[in-house]
Amino acid sequence: MLYLGIESSCDETAAAVVSAENGRLSVLSNIVASQIDTHRLYGGVVPEIASRAHAEAISRVTKRALDEAGVSAADLTAVGVTAHPGLIGALLVGVNFAKGFAAANDLPLVPVDHMRAHIAAAYLCDEMPVPPFLALAVSGGHTSLYRASSYTAFSPVSATRDDAIGESFDKIGRLIGIPYPAGAGFDRLAAEGFCRASGEDDVRAAYKKFEKTDVYKSGAYALPSPAMDDGSGDFSFSGLKTAAINLLHRYEQTGEPFDEAIFAAAYTYRAVEAVVKQTDLALKRSPDCRSLVVAGGVAANSHLRARIAELCKKRAVSLFMPPLSLCGDNGAMVAAECHFSYLDGVCAGDDLNASAADGI
Ligand code: KG4
Ligand code: ZN
Repeated sequence: MLYLGIESSCDETAAAVVSAENGRLSVLSNIVASQIDTHRLYGGVVPEIASRAHAEAISRVTKRALDEAGVSAADLTAVGVTAHPGLIGALLVGVNFAKGFAAANDLPLVPVDHMRAHIAAAYLCDEMPVPPFLALAVSGGHTSLYRASSYTAFSPVSATRDDAIGESFDKIGRLIGIPYPAGAGFDRLAAEGFCRASGEDDVRAAYKKFEKTDVYKSGAYALPSPAMDDGSGDFSFSGLKTAAINLLHRYEQTGEPFDEAIFAAAYTYRAVEAVVKQTDLALKRSPDCRSLVVAGGVAANSHLRARIAELCKKRAVSLFMPPLSLCGDNGAMVAAECHFSYLDGVCAGDDLNASAADGI
């Protein structure tokens, strides 16, 4: 079975071909046209510009995905397209293109949820997670834990009540001069900060010592945890973000020496430890889930990856994290999700519409 996956929910126009044989999924092509350089000029995604750029790129990105995979439309089993959530104008470009492509080639069209697709990127690992499993979705717009009782049946476990982790890295990163999207730059700056604060060269050893360092204990970079402590397992990133903004203002006003790297380390430490804490709680509450999937753009964060790997080892849970190339938005994850939805009989009519709202 061969699937074409099309993604246009935010600032990447992407298409990919994935094959499914004997329960194994393989990526035959994966083309991503990023708009990041354009949006960087504005410090964030400009929805109108994103839609226009998708319209320009989508035909050639799809053609390249088919060509690189060495398949033609007639070989395909179905077309999957991200239909929600995302920027509405951006989603509509992909949905309308996929509708036309499916109709012209007499193919089933499968609407795909963007967060399910992020989770499905983990099905492209060497091994597949076995349901029931827990999925941690961390991206620009989401910080959520789900329980999957099958590859297509998800129920929410906990989530952020306000901002998402990725959005908070982007906003705070911008304030300390990291270009959009700030996640990867924040990650590297924090690594420098952990090492400087602890005097260690090894980042992982430095991270472990961070809480015991003088600079952390002095409270100079003290920030609140975004983990809610009411037993819900939820998050609130707006509190952490506001405290970080206030801290930056204080330094600006007093003119005290400020170390951006140590600040990035302190912020990352709070964010990562909160995610680890709530994931641990979710694992404890779902003892039948012996696998954890970690997905979304923030799953590329090196500190989060290391800490989640430690947690899974401690709890003897198998960890499924997509390779870095499949953590951000891409068409392969859409095609992977499309496979399971298609097997479940999901198929859109010619009235398929896009929606900005969550729909997992
Ligand atoms: O999944 P994604 O590509 O788009 C959404 O669905 O939102 O995620 C993008 C987010 C951005 O906020 C970006 O800054 C963040 O993922 N990100 C990272 C890293 N790489 C990307 N955040 C933390 N550390 C990283 N290494
Ligand atoms: Zn995404």
